Amino acid sequence: MNGKRILLIITGSIAAYKSLELIRLLTKSGASVEGVLTSGGSQFITPLSVATLTGKKAHLEMWDEDASEMNHIELSRRADLIVVAPATADFVAKMAQGFGDDLASSVLLARNKPVIIAPSMNVEMWENPAFQRNLSQVQQDGAYLVEPQTDILACGESGIGKMAEPETILSSIQNHFEQSNLLQGKRAIVTAGGTIERIDSVRYISNFSSGKQGIAIARALAEAGVNVGLVTGNISSALPRHPNIENIFIESAEQMQAEVVSQLPADIFISCAAVCDFKVANSSDRKIKKQNGLHLEFEENQDIVKSVGVLPSGERPNLVIGFAAETDDLIDNAKKKRINKNCDMIVANLVADKAVFGKNENKASFVTESDVRNLDTMSKGDLAREIVSWIAERL
Ligand code: C5P
Repeated sequence: MNGKRILLIITGSIAAYKSLELIRLLTKSGASVEGVLTSGGSQFITPLSVATLTGKKAHLEMWDEDASEMNHIELSRRADLIVVAPATADFVAKMAQGFGDDLASSVLLARNKPVIIAPSMNVEMWENPAFQRNLSQVQQDGAYLVEPQTDILACGESGIGKMAEPETILSSIQNHFEQSNLLQGKRAIVTAGGTIERIDSVRYISNFSSGKQGIAIARALAEAGVNVGLVTGNISSALPRHPNIENIFIESAEQMQAEVVSQLPADIFISCAAVCDFKVANSSDRKIKKQNGLHLEFEENQDIVKSVGVLPSGERPNLVIGFAAETDDLIDNAKKKRINKNCDMIVANLVADKAVFGKNENKASFVTESDVRNLDTMSKGDLAREIVSWIAERL
């Protein structure tokens, strides 16, 4: 952690007292810490305690007397990582909605750095659907979650909501930095979302893919130092903004294939897109009138991941990863797909009852030549980081 600069945002929860211990652990491990307190945070611990432990002025106000710097912008620019600990339900709501009515929320709005949040609240607040919606949103926007603990809470009730211990938050921060240099200088192509196959000028065939998993993978790779070409079709999710990601938009499988080819060579190809297996052979560039009935003919699309998987060595990316979304016989089908498409790994997931499409969580198995690893249910962001770790072990 030597030389790493952490911006620690402390919001209004009793767990704020543990943030002082977190500062101590961070500085002991070689990082330098700068603190921002919300007005709630400063009800629980004083700016003086934060300044004493960080060795730097603690920031509270948006409007500093020193007009030479814009606090909310400068603070994130000079940090390597932003940590919000504790993060209250109110603060997570502000992050989800993009409010910037105080220094801490404006810093997050203006940030160009990754953020880790360690929530702390009462169990009912944690389980409240409004909070859960906000939490999903901020995770989808790229924030990493350090899960709270289940215990007797400060309010006397018991359940989930107690902020993770400072040691746990420290190890999440350390993991973040370990991953951030893991694959420096590598190049990846990632496909995400569903393709659109036109029937006529107003109608199309597509699927339920939201693009969330592929986007999470692109973001995790980018944060590991990889230069990513992200080829997206039809998505219902915000695109990642990251200097290491080039966003390329396509509509059809044919266009996706062409873009993937033009992005080669690459070290890694991850085919997360739900590519339509068929295109309409007799599509019309005018709206088809219903009086005439609808007679569609289909033609098979090229299998993009297979076409990359079977490239001769030298042209083939070192690692080719496909996905298998199945309703039945998941692992058997994934094994067959891995061989047929010449992939190094298939990430297999059950899609019965739309259990995966559009959701923020995923439950997957890594199917490789040598084994099948079943993972627990986790956020799509965490699954993306598992995939990045798997890649890093091999490259
Ligand atoms: O055979 P199936 O469509 O189930 O295989 C899924 C995997 O193949 C995914 O990785 C998907 O991105 C990829 N695929 C592809 N081109 C197609 C169809 C699927 O790259 N035309």
